[in-house]
Amino acid sequence: MTLEEGDTPLIPAPAISELTGCQVWLKYEGLNPTGSFKDRGMTVAVSQAVEEGAEAVLCASTGNTAASAAAYAARAGLRGAVIVPEGKIATGKLAQALMHGARVITLRGNFDQALAITRQVVDRNPIALVNSLNDFRIEGQKTAAFEVCDQLGEAPDVLSIPVGNAGNVTAYWKGFQEYGTAPVLHGYQAAGAAPLVEGKPVDNPETVASAIRIGNPARWENAMDAFTSSRGEVRAVSDDEILEAYRLLGRREGVFCEPASAASVAGLLKYGAEGVVVCVLTGHGLKDPTTAMGQAEPVVTCEPDLEQVERAVMGS
Ligand code: F0G
Repeated sequence: MTLEEGDTPLIPAPAISELTGCQVWLKYEGLNPTGSFKDRGMTVAVSQAVEEGAEAVLCASTGNTAASAAAYAARAGLRGAVIVPEGKIATGKLAQALMHGARVITLRGNFDQALAITRQVVDRNPIALVNSLNDFRIEGQKTAAFEVCDQLGEAPDVLSIPVGNAGNVTAYWKGFQEYGTAPVLHGYQAAGAAPLVEGKPVDNPETVASAIRIGNPARWENAMDAFTSSRGEVRAVSDDEILEAYRLLGRREGVFCEPASAASVAGLLKYGAEGVVVCVLTGHGLKDPTTAMGQAEPVVTCEPDLEQVERAVMGS
């Protein structure tokens, strides 16, 4: 089951390079078929579900996994169901899940509660779990590490990556190891949802970066092993720092990602790094128009009058 995921561009980032003194590249995972890195893993997980004769796939999600699972389930002719925290997922992601015909369940609770219930549902029914607890997801997602090395011609010195449920950092580390490389991993969590940084689960995680609003990551141990083994670190960035990086990417680099993705750049700007740094931009900015609009200058409305329009164009 494929939608031709992967092969995303690695884009040089001159403005961020100048600000940090590093050679910075952006791995733009928002250009996958459903607009996030999840597709790399979902192609494998859903193919496996088909092989095992599953009738349906299910996931808990902050939005992107739901969009991806819905698309690949549609492609495979399986039923798809997704459980998302009510009012806490970006509009575009919800639209995707609905357009692909998934059953969307909004839970009056957070992602961690959704995942706990999801695990119980799959234990009791012939349904495949396609969260990153599913090892086939990791196998697909590790290909991003291969690509980064191929595109650069060698491994980067540092990989900077947002961390939520911690599947992606687990997958990158597996991929780098299988490739015989070991870049330093810098993981970034939102300050209001930073269980790995605090060393304990967060009961009520809160952040503008809804994709990583997670208080008890399922891949906790794998992620901590990756940070330790790579001599890396997991650190926190505030919502303000995330939004500043989000705007900088849009305005200076011409690259539109979602807020959670900008955490990788926010962390680099805050804590610095050395050498060749790849920042993973996990999802496309179009997924979350509401947050984007809140960060932009107001729209200027005009009458169809030349002078009025001209004044608006020239900014006076
Ligand atoms: N960035 C984006 C845009 C995400 O959607 C996610 C996770 C992450 C980063 C963090 O990746 O969980 O592997 O550490 N989104 C999941 C979801 C949780 O349900 O879409 P992670």
